[in-house]
Amino acid sequence: MIKLRKLRFEFPDDIPFWFNPKSREASLLANGMSLVAPGFERYFIKAIREAMPRIRDGAARDEANRFCIQEGQHAKFHIDHQDLLLRKHPELEAVRDEVNRSYDDLQRNESTEFALAYATAIELGFKPLAKYLVESRQVLFAGGDARITSFLLWHFVEEFEHRHAMFDVYREVVGDYWYRLGVTRRTWAHVSALGARVQAACIACEQPPADDPGLPRIPRTRLLALGLGLLETLSPLHDPRRGPVPQWIADWFAADDAGADMTTIAL
Ligand SMILES: [Fe+2]
Ligand SMILES: [Fe+2]
Repeated sequence: MIKLRKLRFEFPDDIPFWFNPKSREASLLANGMSLVAPGFERYFIKAIREAMPRIRDGAARDEANRFCIQEGQHAKFHIDHQDLLLRKHPELEAVRDEVNRSYDDLQRNESTEFALAYATAIELGFKPLAKYLVESRQVLFAGGDARITSFLLWHFVEEFEHRHAMFDVYREVVGDYWYRLGVTRRTWAHVSALGARVQAACIACEQPPADDPGLPRIPRTRLLALGLGLLETLSPLHDPRRGPVPQWIADWFAADDAGADMTTIAL
């Protein structure tokens, strides 16, 4: 069962615009996520709320509801981070609004089935992405502001935790594999275009850091595993529950269950 947590993340002005002076990739990821994720997370929540009467099993409805609560919390804190970015560079308001308008347009012009397929494509992709990020955490996050590091890793740990949730809703309510496959292509194109737009807007405000030459490189095999993991989500036999939980994520869950403060984590 998806666990509901009550973590609180703060984004005071002393957090730099680019949170990690040692990593361009992590800095772009953090700002890109905070400017795009609330748009799609709210889109997913609305889609599930619309589909809820079509989920027959009570336990499945409860799990879908827990998924919505987790996503609502992610969106809330990403918006708080957005607010910090916009305090530093108010001109980002235009691109933030463009992202939100893009999801409002999808909601207005496309069906609930489309929204569920879109959400499933993103959510399935988050599983291999979460694995990649936690395995690369020393390279990507060690030099950064610990508050943003903890915030991002919390988000991806919960993405791993609820990796089955959208897939289950889609199977129950829509179930059409070929339709999901077709929408996945559009989803990846849409979200990549938005990601590129917001990152370009951030770069236009402030030059991002260069990668620290002293940092080890992320192994090619790990990048390959990420690519293969994303491709695997396209298989009709794909089951997001399959496969081990990365040790660092299992340790994160155990520390949280034991009452540790997960808003300032150790890498
Ligand atoms: Fe999320
Ligand atoms: Fe999610």
